[in-house]
Amino acid sequence: MTIPNNINLESKKPLSQQLDSYQHEFRRWWKRCGPAEFLDRPMNLRCPTGLSDPGNWSEVRTIAPCDYQWGIFQSRTQENSIGFGEYKGAKLWDTPPDEAYHLLLDHIVTQADAENGSVEQCRALTQTAPSVHDLENLFQFFLEEGRHSWTMVHLLLEHFGEDGVVESEELLHRMCGESSRPRLLKAFNYRTEDWLAHFMWCLLADRDGRYQLDAVSKSAFRPLRESVRYMLLEEPMHIRFGVQGLERTISQSARMTLLRDTFDIFDDGAIPLPVIQRYMNFWMSTVYDLFGEDQSSHAADMYQLGIRSPKSFEAWNKSSVLIDAWADNQIRQIETEPMLAINYIMRRQFIREITQIIDYWNRCLSQLRLDFQFKIPADRFNRKIGAMKDAPFDIDGNLLTDGRPGGVDQFLPSTSDMVQVRALMIRVLEPNRCASWIAPPSTGLKNLVQEFGQVH
Ligand SMILES: [Fe+2]
Ligand SMILES: [Fe+2]
Repeated sequence: MTIPNNINLESKKPLSQQLDSYQHEFRRWWKRCGPAEFLDRPMNLRCPTGLSDPGNWSEVRTIAPCDYQWGIFQSRTQENSIGFGEYKGAKLWDTPPDEAYHLLLDHIVTQADAENGSVEQCRALTQTAPSVHDLENLFQFFLEEGRHSWTMVHLLLEHFGEDGVVESEELLHRMCGESSRPRLLKAFNYRTEDWLAHFMWCLLADRDGRYQLDAVSKSAFRPLRESVRYMLLEEPMHIRFGVQGLERTISQSARMTLLRDTFDIFDDGAIPLPVIQRYMNFWMSTVYDLFGEDQSSHAADMYQLGIRSPKSFEAWNKSSVLIDAWADNQIRQIETEPMLAINYIMRRQFIREITQIIDYWNRCLSQLRLDFQFKIPADRFNRKIGAMKDAPFDIDGNLLTDGRPGGVDQFLPSTSDMVQVRALMIRVLEPNRCASWIAPPSTGLKNLVQEFGQVH
């Protein structure tokens, strides 16, 4: 089968043959680890055209997911020179140079592994889709994460020889949550077993994904930067899927809380706002870890070589950065060079962006006169890597007074929370209907505020 592409694959015979034979194995993985139903149901799906301008890069077709073709697309760049680091001003690389080979290989393998992991972790959600709209969005997510894997495999096979062949096969053998061959990043080993978790994932982890893609979109390695730029056209929809899904969930919870005058609304078919907060605490802290350790010589090396740089790094790259350190059950702050604090800087940018969304939701809840505000957990909370690993902080970043690590659990979803959330997740696919726990598509908190007539 011809692979749709805009990289002139037809003129690269050996590569084209390698990708063709990879297709066979990839489809076997997809069958085993991807969505198991609705594959032949016609849906409105966005398909890439291969053009890279923002207005024409995709078109919506009514096709079944099994007819979607994973294409390999790049967005060309006019720039020819490296923009930052030791080699600033030198020509972009068309092949990986020796000094950057292993860093690039690791980076591309980790990116590809995350794409496959993100399909595996939510594959079962087809069983509980709350509406046709959500089912179609879920398939858009599945198919595009699959395409991202293809685009990374293309880089592995074209530029990394035997290493690329071995690594692209390994991608199909690791599995989300499997103890003997887990996905490379811890966050991709948690299953998102209900839609609330999936919406949190899209809001937070896909947003982290966008930060990671942005950071290499000016990479010295031209094939990586051009592949990533095309992926960045697709990623905003995944993030929107999470933002809108969560807002619809919160809206329905707020409605039921107002009608029943209690937060205890599981029996009324909606998710209590404090439970949504506990889910947020878990997924936010999990995604904080995805940014990596606050202090990282690896991130500094990636910058120095011209592979990866945060957005607006120049604004930070003037003075030192204060980061947390933890020793002898005490916290203190230490100064570090901005270059070593790149992961920390990216996480701060991410938190600032999430704050704007949460502030909007909180303003709406205030307008509804609900006695509830969401909180963004401090970046010390529930960390599993780095200086704050397993340190007992509450979500405000204060040391838990009894000092026991177990105290963190009170802020996380309990087994009972998850069982009750999952009990509400019933599939609804009749036209113009949706499940009880979520407001209809294209509605949100603004509609609820208008309906309850309490706009200040
Ligand atoms: Fe992706
Ligand atoms: Fe994504």
